[in-house]
Amino acid sequence: MKNIIAVILAAGRGTRMKSDTPKVMHEILAKPMISHVVDSVGGAGVKSIILVTGFGSDKVQEFFKGTDVKAVLQKKLLGSGDAVNTARGQISKFAKGDCLVVYGDTPLIKSQTIKRLIEKHAASSSSLTLLTAVLKNPTGYGRIIRTPEGRIVKIAEEDEAKTYKKEIKEINVGTCIFRCEDLLEALGKIKPENTKKEYYLTDAVKIFSDSGKKIESITIEDLDEMIGVNSRVELAKAVACVKTRILDELMMSGVTIQDPSTTTIYPDVKIGKDSVIYPNTIIESGVKIGENCHIGPFARLRPGTEVKDKAEVGNFVELVRTKVGENTKVKHHTYLGDATVGKNVNIGAGTITANYDGKNKSKTIIGDGAFIGVGTILIAPVKIGKKALTGAGTVILKGRNVKDGAIAVGVPARILEKRISERRKS
Ligand code: UD1
Ligand code: CA
Repeated sequence: MKNIIAVILAAGRGTRMKSDTPKVMHEILAKPMISHVVDSVGGAGVKSIILVTGFGSDKVQEFFKGTDVKAVLQKKLLGSGDAVNTARGQISKFAKGDCLVVYGDTPLIKSQTIKRLIEKHAASSSSLTLLTAVLKNPTGYGRIIRTPEGRIVKIAEEDEAKTYKKEIKEINVGTCIFRCEDLLEALGKIKPENTKKEYYLTDAVKIFSDSGKKIESITIEDLDEMIGVNSRVELAKAVACVKTRILDELMMSGVTIQDPSTTTIYPDVKIGKDSVIYPNTIIESGVKIGENCHIGPFARLRPGTEVKDKAEVGNFVELVRTKVGENTKVKHHTYLGDATVGKNVNIGAGTITANYDGKNKSKTIIGDGAFIGVGTILIAPVKIGKKALTGAGTVILKGRNVKDGAIAVGVPARILEKRISERRKS
């Protein structure tokens, strides 16, 4: 979709968050709210994305540094119309195209919905296509005013909506798409004539209608999509909603989640089919888990972790930046950080990698078929060879690599050349 520019409005301070962090930078499962919106817009196929920033603009810009997302600064918060006008220069470059507007404080909007809006807009060749919703309680939202024939003629914001005799239940979600030329013309005509003395973007609707321009709409199906986040209570509701979406999607793809109410899986996690996630497990962003794995209960898999097919990660195990090979078992009370563990390895209960010496993080490598005894401490950097064995309570000092098939015992570890079982054989 080359000829669409998206403008995401994110200048508001979010006073009710009571925070030094701009509202849109508050996180939903380790990802700023605004980033959820940007991903939905990107997921709908829109390539050019402009963020209108204001309060805490530097924090927002810092986050998107190095990406294609561009930020413009709205110096004074004069309303949503003024916010879009801040991106005028960029919108002008798409003079023959369309401008999608999304509010940065509705982080649950889905790509499919944005796609549907874009498609309707294109198919109906309208000047403006709005996303609307029908609510039992429309208080606080802009109300969609239609003629008896159903033509949209204006949006009445809260103050004005009160003057209508009949209560109007159809509201403006905020996401909408304009023909750029028409938008630019309308922006010049919007006046701050309301109790808030703000430039309302929604006044463009009446301007369009008065000049005979076509306005269309689609109605949102899932009302969760329009949850606005204005306080930390609403933020928690948005988190709950994103959590459910992620778990539902994984279950639909063939993953068993034994207790969704105590399981948290962050965005961008991949889990193969027939894997089982036990209660009270946390799996953070970017983690990859293969097929037929058993994870938890009470496991925490942090970013950079990859677990191959048929592996088991049990209770009170924390993994970070760690690879666990096929059919390997890490079943009880273990911390592995910056470790690469081969296949068919058994990691005994209470095994700990000492990966951080206060300055640097170092790697631990454990070869295929190794057997790590209970309570082993591996002071990184260290390498344990294939089929090597460590005795219970062994402390392997930094750099004291254990060769393939060798055995290490004691504190600090003494390294014997052959695993006992193999010596017995010979
Ligand atoms: C807005 C809509 C309303 C709609 C509702 C949906 C207007 C005038 N009204 O009302 O029709 O039902 O959203 O949630 O648009 N912003 C800026 N700069 C500003 C002002 C706002 O960037 O100067 C941003 C805010 O950060 C926010 C968005 O625009 O992301 C909407 O502004 P807000 O003040 O929250 O409008 P609402 O009163 O919620
Ligand atoms: Ca709002």
